[in-house]
Amino acid sequence: MGYKSLARPHGLSTASETLALFTGLVTSNSRRLPVCSQCRYSSTRGPGRPQPKTKLGETVYPTDEWHNVPPAIASSIGRQLHIQKDHPISITRSIIESKFPKPTYQHHNGFVPVVTTGQNFDSLGFPPDHPGRSKADTYYVNASTVLRTHTSAHQLDAFRANSSEGFLISADVYRRDAIDRTHYPIFHQMEGARVWDRKKVPHGNIAQAVWEDIAKLPTHSMIVEDPNPPTHPERNPLQHGHSHDEAEALAAHLKRSLELMVVEIFSRAKDAAIATNPKYVDEPLKVRWIEAFFPFTSPSWELEIFWQGDWLEVLGSGVVKQDIFEKAGVPSQVGWAFGIGLERIAMLLFEIPDIRLFWSQDERFLGQFKGMSDDLHRLKRYVPFSKYPACYKDVAFWLRSSSSSAGGGIRANAADFHENDVMEIVRDVGGDVVEDVTKVDEFTHPKTGRKSLCYRINYRSLERTLTNEEANEFHEKVSRELVNKLGVELR
Ligand code: PHE
Repeated sequence: MGYKSLARPHGLSTASETLALFTGLVTSNSRRLPVCSQCRYSSTRGPGRPQPKTKLGETVYPTDEWHNVPPAIASSIGRQLHIQKDHPISITRSIIESKFPKPTYQHHNGFVPVVTTGQNFDSLGFPPDHPGRSKADTYYVNASTVLRTHTSAHQLDAFRANSSEGFLISADVYRRDAIDRTHYPIFHQMEGARVWDRKKVPHGNIAQAVWEDIAKLPTHSMIVEDPNPPTHPERNPLQHGHSHDEAEALAAHLKRSLELMVVEIFSRAKDAAIATNPKYVDEPLKVRWIEAFFPFTSPSWELEIFWQGDWLEVLGSGVVKQDIFEKAGVPSQVGWAFGIGLERIAMLLFEIPDIRLFWSQDERFLGQFKGMSDDLHRLKRYVPFSKYPACYKDVAFWLRSSSSSAGGGIRANAADFHENDVMEIVRDVGGDVVEDVTKVDEFTHPKTGRKSLCYRINYRSLERTLTNEEANEFHEKVSRELVNKLGVELR
């Protein structure tokens, strides 16, 4: 999870794509076409050349060269698992909401997933060359419109609305990504924030007001590792305009609030485990705070939970960058924000082994959670109904050498090949029948310099046994599409 990395390599030149787009627009808009005799007004678009459009949910959006939302994604918009009664994602949301109660925190669950690049990136200070903006990572509706990649896309608007001291925003988010049991191109996040206003707290003393609010929070006995100071000049800088005392108080309020949420989730997880298996022995809960980097918070932290022998990252958080409050027209406010992935928490809570299950309409899955939305104290763990056999198939291919890419618009030369394009083709063909895709071989021919890749696809339905013929059919189609769409040469 996360938007911390600035240096992730990717095979896309944003500048050249922007230029292509720009020239594309100039040619199509400036071309003078004859006045249409059917209409009264001169049009710059001739009959038969309508502007391409796409319908997402109830709204129609213009598209352009940036458009890369596949039909399978478009048709899943609107499922809203986070508000579907008795769905594990929705149950998880409700449990977290119970630790951030109204009216201090307002709860929003209906924000539309189509946002501007301004909301998703610019408002949060993402630099123009940030890898998160690339078409390889993000679904673009058109050059200035994306499917939100995180709930932080709504931060600025929520601060501008200024209608409460805090908020929670739960929503579906979209990222082009690998295929495996913990990654799915649509998932759910919850954004949370809490603010204080310099003009409203007694004597303008933010630190004191925040400490008074901390005193009102319960304590807990979970083991917390937090070895670093609240700020560090290089690794986790204090913002200009914030005093050390303010940042320290904000950090303490943020950490206590989020720790209390984790304690809640895990005590529910423990009860659920005991309800399912009375002999369950639990380990003491342990979490740690790690210094992090996000373009829109400073200082920043991630929270990790020690779970079944591993440290698991569950959320990103930090002190909100002051220029976001300034852009939102509330410069006297200061505060903290966090973002948490709901699937990961739900998988821990209910011991759900595969992220595709959340999208299942099978009663053997959904039926297990009946009644839980109305009684959050009666959670039970998921009991797998059956594991159908895996069916592994490999596909090996040559990428075009960079020099042979001229003309033809073929994209998969070695320089601009991106693995997420393979993932998407597999996903388009196989849908949720694909459990995971892994690269099993990669080499460059010593003489020709051509690069070869081999991917292993695991075809396994969650709901039934696939026949070998069915898997072959999927696999042949995947291979054909790799050739058609990426221009690779099968080996
Ligand atoms: N939006 C960040 C992500 O998706 C998480 C985050 C939210 C970090 C709010 C800091 C503050 O990775």
